[in-house]
Amino acid sequence: MSNKLPIDKNNIPKHVAIIMDGNGRWAKQQGQDRLFGHTSGVESVRSTIRKAKELGIKFLTLYAFSTENWNRPKDEVDALMDLLVRSIANEVDELDENDIRLVTIGDVSKLPIDCQKSLSWAKEKTKKNKSLTLILALNYSARWEIIQALKSIAFEIEHHKLMADELNERVFERFLSTKDIPDPELLIRTSGENRISNFLLWQIAYTEFHFTNVFWPEFRGEHFLQAVQDYQNRERRFGLVSEQIED
Ligand code: FPP
Repeated sequence: MSNKLPIDKNNIPKHVAIIMDGNGRWAKQQGQDRLFGHTSGVESVRSTIRKAKELGIKFLTLYAFSTENWNRPKDEVDALMDLLVRSIANEVDELDENDIRLVTIGDVSKLPIDCQKSLSWAKEKTKKNKSLTLILALNYSARWEIIQALKSIAFEIEHHKLMADELNERVFERFLSTKDIPDPELLIRTSGENRISNFLLWQIAYTEFHFTNVFWPEFRGEHFLQAVQDYQNRERRFGLVSEQIED
């Protein structure tokens, strides 16, 4: 696929978030089991990270496992966890060589212990890297995150570390798992599903959405580039009118 459309280097989103979807349906189309779809999706992750880095994107968030995904058949959950551990082990050197920092959002303390160890090791190894921050959302859901934030805020108020009156959007954000990460300017969902599925609900207040019919295992850097080009054609008004933006 060739894409000769221009890209505006001065309007690259700082943060892109992706709901990787369609692994199972793609695998079924190939006459394969769902795991084949997930395994194939790893190449899409690689290709996307490469393109994100090349474009100068600073934060890339991938929704890899939601709190709802625990309800899938046990075999599939186990296989996904295993794939995650193997992928991290295989990729961490390349991430590090490319100056990419790995972080996670979500309750990783509920993941299998080998998964937790693998993640801590990879996060530690890449923590000084600066070019791109790769954020894996694991055992994550936005409602869980908001409730966690509320619990911490209630605790601080109860212990007189925070006054209820001091609460505002900026203060609230300090209690989210994305506290040091800017809000995404662009969110991509693959596979033709047009919904948010409990992902970054607070952070996407002004995010542009790009929905594509491409199943995740077929998603490549070229598709990522198309999504960024689509974003660059949007006018982001943040509640203002066009004339105010142009001023
Ligand atoms: C959604 O497809 C995909 C997932 C729940 C898992 C995504 C995981 C990977 C791509 C594996 C590797 C990830 C990393 C970060 C190394 P689905 O199973 O919901 O597909 P369906 O909607 O067609 O059933």
